[in-house]
Amino acid sequence: MSLLIKNGEIVTATERYIADIFVENETITALGPDLSALATPSTEIIDASGKYVFPGFIDPHTHIYLPFMGTYSKDTYTTGTQAALVGGTTTLFDMCCPMRTMSAAEGFATWNARSAGKACCDYTYHMGVTRFDDDTPAQLRAIVAAGVSSFKIFLAYKGAFGIDDPELYATLKLAKELGVIVTAHCENETLVFERQRELLAAGKTDPAQHHESRPPLVEAEGVHHLMTFAELTGASVYIVHLSCREALKNAVEARLRGVDVSVETLIQYLLIDKTYAERPDFEGAKFVMSPPLRDAKNQPVLWNALRTGLIQTVATDHAPFDFKGQKPMGAADFTKIPNGIPALEDRVNLLYTYGVKTGKIDLHTFVNVASTQAAKLFGLFPKKGAVQPGADADLVIYDPSYRGKISAATQVMNVDYSGFEGWPIEGRPAIVTVRGEVAVRDGKFTGTVGRGQFLKRTPNHF
Ligand code: URP
Ligand code: ZN
Ligand code: ZN
Repeated sequence: MSLLIKNGEIVTATERYIADIFVENETITALGPDLSALATPSTEIIDASGKYVFPGFIDPHTHIYLPFMGTYSKDTYTTGTQAALVGGTTTLFDMCCPMRTMSAAEGFATWNARSAGKACCDYTYHMGVTRFDDDTPAQLRAIVAAGVSSFKIFLAYKGAFGIDDPELYATLKLAKELGVIVTAHCENETLVFERQRELLAAGKTDPAQHHESRPPLVEAEGVHHLMTFAELTGASVYIVHLSCREALKNAVEARLRGVDVSVETLIQYLLIDKTYAERPDFEGAKFVMSPPLRDAKNQPVLWNALRTGLIQTVATDHAPFDFKGQKPMGAADFTKIPNGIPALEDRVNLLYTYGVKTGKIDLHTFVNVASTQAAKLFGLFPKKGAVQPGADADLVIYDPSYRGKISAATQVMNVDYSGFEGWPIEGRPAIVTVRGEVAVRDGKFTGTVGRGQFLKRTPNHF
């Protein structure tokens, strides 16, 4: 199987030039001005003139499968990875999050049973450490040996996924020993719990109370707490879904003290604000997630931080719960609204349209924060996140002349609403390849269910 992509404008985190790309089987084998001589009669030839060719995009934070708040996120590994591909994401990191009642080993087995043979793009997990007992270290060592070189912890969600301070300390010490990076949801769970109780006692039950229960200082305290533990243990940490200036300040201050901390924000925080969660008639429930959508004044701070390298990645935290069947679980009590805003399919097009096209970030920053940095931080570079000989042929041939609108009626994600309903997009993937196989043409999935592989990674944070 070979593929020749002709005359595309290749854009990586650092380079931009027009060239041909030759792919044999699953791998890029040559790059150059005219590679027609390498083609055989069976080579598929794609004309990429007038289009960008990006390395496949990477979403470092999704919840394809998530038992959570009494229900389950709606996608499967098939629907979720198809949606990812249509939107240009060719690799995703799903959060393997066993409830505290489950061991790490049981959690890992559960996620493997969900994903095996079902994915259309490559994937891996951050391994959730949702409790730390006597059996946990041996189980985590085995999971790392099986190819998972990052952990996930929650400082929020009391009683569900959240860990206490002795567990946090033990997890970071083990991670440091193993060279594993620890990704962390940073919110102070006690403050959240107490504020929720006060609001409910005052009869405040609507979706907009969600952000009242988790103001910026709740997140900033979570970040500060993690930073203290990371500083004392020497562990490498990655703050997931950072939403506000106060939290960023604490991360940057820790970086100045020598803490190895990286930061992720979400496309949702960059583009939508807390007024969405204040919409009447329970419409706001579509926009309930944690940490919550913030005051819009945080958005220029986040864009600046992306531009200047203070924030490393843009993810989705894709957590799809239906507006009709699932969000109403919290109709009378905002603390019961399943948390999450789906975005896996739309991240790349939104970041291109509202980041690159508006001049907030340049094309290289776009590729860096939506692909290359995640590959580097989590041990996939340069197989992923790069366009160079030897890299996996996960490529996005991007049509900047496309014009369209986001709509739940046409999306591939298996959820009944879009948080970005009606938003215009200026550009979309024309062709997407998964290790050399064309998986998307003009917005339609054309690939193979089961082609997506579990990516084995080795620790790289010693
Ligand atoms: O609201 C969110 N973020 N839902 C998914 C679970 C999590 O905290 O990442
Ligand atoms: Zn989270
Ligand atoms: Zn998440």
